[in-house]
Amino acid sequence: PAPRRTQDRLAEQGAPVPGPPAPGPLPEYAPTPDSDPALPANREWARRIAAAIPGSKRGIDDVRSGEAFLATIEDVDSAIAGLTSAQKAWAARPVAERAAIIDHAGDVLASRRAELIEVAAAETGKTIDQSDPEVGEAIDFCRHYARMALELADPDYLTGARFTPARVTVVASPWNFPLAIPTGGVVAALAVGSAVVLKPAPPARRCGAEIVRALHAAGVPREVLMLAPVEDGDVSQRLVTHEGVERVILTGSYDTARLFRSWRPSMRLLGETSGKNAIIITPSADPDLAVRDAVASAFGHAGQKCSAASLLVLVGSAGRSERIARQLVDATASLRVKGPEHLDSQVGPVAVPDDPKAHRGLTALGRGEHWVLAPKHLGGGLWRPGVRAGVAPGSEYHLTEYFAPVIGIMRVDTLAEAIEAVNAVDYGLTSGLQTLDPAELAQWLDGIEAGNLYVNRGITGAIVRRQPFGGWKRSAIGATTKAGGPSYLLGLGEVSPEEGAE
Ligand code: SER
Repeated sequence: PAPRRTQDRLAEQGAPVPGPPAPGPLPEYAPTPDSDPALPANREWARRIAAAIPGSKRGIDDVRSGEAFLATIEDVDSAIAGLTSAQKAWAARPVAERAAIIDHAGDVLASRRAELIEVAAAETGKTIDQSDPEVGEAIDFCRHYARMALELADPDYLTGARFTPARVTVVASPWNFPLAIPTGGVVAALAVGSAVVLKPAPPARRCGAEIVRALHAAGVPREVLMLAPVEDGDVSQRLVTHEGVERVILTGSYDTARLFRSWRPSMRLLGETSGKNAIIITPSADPDLAVRDAVASAFGHAGQKCSAASLLVLVGSAGRSERIARQLVDATASLRVKGPEHLDSQVGPVAVPDDPKAHRGLTALGRGEHWVLAPKHLGGGLWRPGVRAGVAPGSEYHLTEYFAPVIGIMRVDTLAEAIEAVNAVDYGLTSGLQTLDPAELAQWLDGIEAGNLYVNRGITGAIVRRQPFGGWKRSAIGATTKAGGPSYLLGLGEVSPEEGAE
């Protein structure tokens, strides 16, 4: 991979965006660097974003209270009719033309980095340090899928893949990654020649609107990409069950995927769904690094990631486990919990505070479990994260996804028991191992059931192209290929009529 370069975001801001490249080979893929906070110009850039967040928030609240922003069933029907008639011309364009536009979308997103971070913070509470890499991920999706489309269409590759896309794809995206996930789904579907409706999750509609605006500015025709700002309910149901919609890409909970399927059993659904993810720490691991990675994975974005660490499984003696637990509690208690307008915030607000799952995770206690650090409500959706100990195999905490800033600790005697405990959950999205012993690594790789495996690293923040993202078991529905990976577009390009069974 190309080295991560330092960039001066202040100097970039306001610089003219180059025009779209001529259709043809694209420059070699290079990942987008995060904004380096060691650079004084970048700190000033971030300070300006932080200062603008409260004003943005007021603006968003005003639009919401008017609700002028919502689509009706009639809007949905006419959007799908329009997309259906425009799709053929889009699919008939040479792949190189679509790829050039999608690659250029990466330039447009890069030029709007500050505004995108600001809107994500104002709308969902996501902190600047979490949103900045998310914009990078959105740009990387554009770069990656543009190149993959070109490669797959090359007659020397797989004798030239011929895309037979869904005419209209609905992308139903979540509020926790309100920028990268809608961008990834939309540009992947566009790359194979589909027309697309983006339905952002209600708490992140404005972010969805900004992504659609950026893609239109990059040259995606308005007739092949539309925004459906809808609440979850009748209009949403009409959208995903409309007979003109041939594929749905959902990133959301397992329950939402089941609901979609119950509405329309034959739906071609590509679902990236829930997770209940663990990090195993073996006796050979470096406890300092393990605790650092656990804290980042559990409490980044206030634990509201399908990839978040929710359970630590400590292998070994009670004494060593006790020491690691104490270290974890100290690290957790020292986190700065503040709103995203504070640059030094490490844990932002819980975006949907009345969400029953998050609420249960922050309040419930199982038999035998106890808080070693109780979560504390600080007001304004902010919660000091919690750590609970004594999680028993098979207990509610062990098996349930909460989407909240809490982590539980389970102690076991052997790595085999730890692997068994991790595999006992219904989901299989991300999984971590902290070890310095190659034999332990081999044993874990052999036995663990999850789509994304990380060793001596945090378990969130998959990197496009290097760590294609997707789960096993109930963490995926109908998904045979991973986002950001080499074959995702093939999965979207081929529509087989009998698809639909789980
Ligand atoms: N791709 C995100 C991560 O890796 C989750 O959706 O954390």
